[in-house]
Amino acid sequence: MERNTEERLIKQARQRLPVAYAPYSGIRVAAAVQTADGTVFCGVNVENASYGLTVCAERNALAAAVAEGHSQFSAMAVVSDAVSVQSPCGACRQVLQEFSPAMELVFVSPAGRFCYTVRDLLPCAFTLEEE
Ligand code: THU
Repeated sequence: MERNTEERLIKQARQRLPVAYAPYSGIRVAAAVQTADGTVFCGVNVENASYGLTVCAERNALAAAVAEGHSQFSAMAVVSDAVSVQSPCGACRQVLQEFSPAMELVFVSPAGRFCYTVRDLLPCAFTLEEE
């Protein structure tokens, strides 16, 4: 990912971290996704008393973008205040690859920075399209 893009997305995600709703795990996560035209949308994790209804920051950022008519994404930054969160969960990998398998991701936690493409994270993805 280009350095300026990385820094910009990390900064925007960091700004959203305080509003993450994580009263159960105590792990706040925020994501900023850049669309093909350069627009940025953010999302945070939203937990629920019925734990399984929790939605991760990555999927909420994508949903915000899709609701505004975007479906092509070039880059995403994910920030977390937990050392244990260093890459997206399996459900998020599947949802990310639905739109943009080539999207670059940078994950930032107290453990450091980790960079991946969606394709790296989900080889042999399930898809209805012939590829
Ligand atoms: N979480 C995310 O938002 N993104 C990830 O990539 C991993 C996990 C959230 C879900 C839950 O609210 C908390 O982190 C602990 O699992």
